[in-house]
Amino acid sequence: MSNWEEFYNTHLPPADFEDNRSLLKEFCERHNRLQNRIVLVTSGGTTVPLEHNTVRFVDNFSAGTRGSSSAEYFLDHNYAVIFMHRLKSLEPFTRHFTGQQFFDMLDITDNGQSTSITVNPDSVDVFAPILAKYKQARESQMILYVSFTSVVDYMWLLRAACECLAAFEDRAVLYLAAAVSDFYIPQDMMPTHKMQSGEGAPTISLQLVPKMLAPLVSLWVPQAFVVSFKLETDENLLITKARDSLSKYKHKLVIANILQTRKHRVVFVTPTSSYEVHLSREQALQGLEIEEPIVADVVQKHSEFINSGMSRQ
Ligand code: PMT
Repeated sequence: MSNWEEFYNTHLPPADFEDNRSLLKEFCERHNRLQNRIVLVTSGGTTVPLEHNTVRFVDNFSAGTRGSSSAEYFLDHNYAVIFMHRLKSLEPFTRHFTGQQFFDMLDITDNGQSTSITVNPDSVDVFAPILAKYKQARESQMILYVSFTSVVDYMWLLRAACECLAAFEDRAVLYLAAAVSDFYIPQDMMPTHKMQSGEGAPTISLQLVPKMLAPLVSLWVPQAFVVSFKLETDENLLITKARDSLSKYKHKLVIANILQTRKHRVVFVTPTSSYEVHLSREQALQGLEIEEPIVADVVQKHSEFINSGMSRQ
């Protein structure tokens, strides 16, 4: 048995798994009947629980900025979007108004008989276009939200989504922007209850999470256009690691980024080329987001892939 099969055999699916699987099935069947293009956007970081009854867990930095903004741009290109995200990480549309920003856009008036809430006139220009896009996406049912928390939840959802996406053949894009844990504690090595400090400092031994890109590309969605992301903190490793990933998993594109500069610079690495996509300082100051050119480029590459008939060779 391969290590990824063993992973699924030894780790139970999350409690909401069957509900999410039904939602994915229904969403994919509808969009496949319509012959739409579809993208699975994974977003945010996975957790690694340290106890079955989880009080403590290992987390990572990802806020879900890349995934949530990319999902909006894919909608602009008429893709149906499965937004598979870490629960409570940034989501498309609402990401523009985090924290108190939303409340600051509202005015409240009370005339003694009734209370009304309106959008502050200064905020209408900002709020209206985003609200309109949100309503359009929801009413036309172009976006499905499914969430995960732990790395095990993520892996179950990822496979279920792929099972539904296979029918789209080359019309499906997988855009794997989530920051997925490479290390975890297998369920049979985890304590049931909260670790007790009275028992002294614990020794925690992490195991390797199987790389799911391997079965994903070769077995689950072999005809899809798969884009993975590569995150590094050492610039000297970035392109080599991206190339290694392409030659190992044989997918179409790796988008490589460095932790500190990821919001204004990425490198597209394909089997035959590598080039930079970046925002200038002026573009960043004007509020442009790097996900806009990233998604435009991915969409163009996806069209070329479909037109070339490469997936059917
Ligand atoms: O959310 P933000 O704050 O905006 O940050 C965006 C980002 C930096 C998280 C994003 O741009 C990014 O780089 N995401 C990928 C991070 C990552 O997991 O890199 P990696 O080198 O560990 O993995 C490379 C690929 O292997 C990933 O596409 C991942 O889906 C896949 N993988 C990872 C682990 C695993 N067990 N199996 C996998 O298949």
